[in-house]
Amino acid sequence: MSCTIAIAGKGGTGKTTISSLMVRFLREKNKGSVLAIDADPNSNLGDVLGISASENIGAIIDEIAKNIDKIPAGMTKNRYIEYRVQSAIEESIGLDLLSMGRPEGPGCYCYANNVLRGIIQKISGDYDFVVIDNEAGLEHLSRRTTRRADCMFIISDATGVGINSAKRIYSLIKELNIDIKKYVFIINRVTESTDKNDLIKHFSDISNEGIELVPHDTQILEYATNNRAIMDLSNESEALKSTFNIMKKHIPSRVGLPNTF
Ligand SMILES: Nc1ncnc2c1ncn2[C@@H]1O[C@H](COP(=O)(O)OP(=O)(O)OP(=O)(O)O)[C@@H](O)[C@H]1O
Ligand SMILES: [Mg+2]
Repeated sequence: MSCTIAIAGKGGTGKTTISSLMVRFLREKNKGSVLAIDADPNSNLGDVLGISASENIGAIIDEIAKNIDKIPAGMTKNRYIEYRVQSAIEESIGLDLLSMGRPEGPGCYCYANNVLRGIIQKISGDYDFVVIDNEAGLEHLSRRTTRRADCMFIISDATGVGINSAKRIYSLIKELNIDIKKYVFIINRVTESTDKNDLIKHFSDISNEGIELVPHDTQILEYATNNRAIMDLSNESEALKSTFNIMKKHIPSRVGLPNTF
């Protein structure tokens, strides 16, 4: 059984940054094999991880739609797409990447989502950890790209408005009956001047869920501005240290084994 970690939140809150720090943690601490899934059509997880994905689900669907006659005899279109997507998974040492991309054809977006969901169900068991960087907002949840997760991290900025939006995402997931074992809210980009107690007060009605803070970190911004990969970020980065601690606290070392981080 693999451990599925899903990251959700509103636009620009730091989902991709935190997803990649989590992937880095799993790689660096040798926790097992990792499949990183970029489920955002405006994707850049690969760039942030420093892996260039040559293919993605959207592009494969478009290409097959334009070349229907090239589907091998005896294979259905769906089976062929599945086969192509599986061979498109970008492999680097101990870390594979699957990107959603953005299909161009009309109606293809929903179809691409279905393909992604099917593939996740099929291959996630082959990995110790699956980390899904979801697209912003709520839509992907209602389409249920993520069917289940051992831990759902909901990322928020360090404002009351941001936290209310994170709580709406949380309520929606609960309503949809997606199988989530554990929720953790991450308030990202917390600064010295942030009133932490005031932020945490917003969670008084759901205080049974985890709440963690990640500081605003100028190194992260500098790396983003210069298109440098999070994998190269120094171990002294405060956001990196916080994210690593969050992983130690909330993610079991290996599924089925006691937490021995
Ligand atoms: N802790 C942090 N300190 C400083 N900058 C940060 C931090 N976390 C994220 N950022 C910066 O904030 C911006 C948005 O982050 P990111 O792309 O990870 O958000 P996102 O939620 O994935 O966005 P989108 O919804 O567009 O996919 C980036 O420029 C990133 O470098
Ligand atoms: Mg993102």
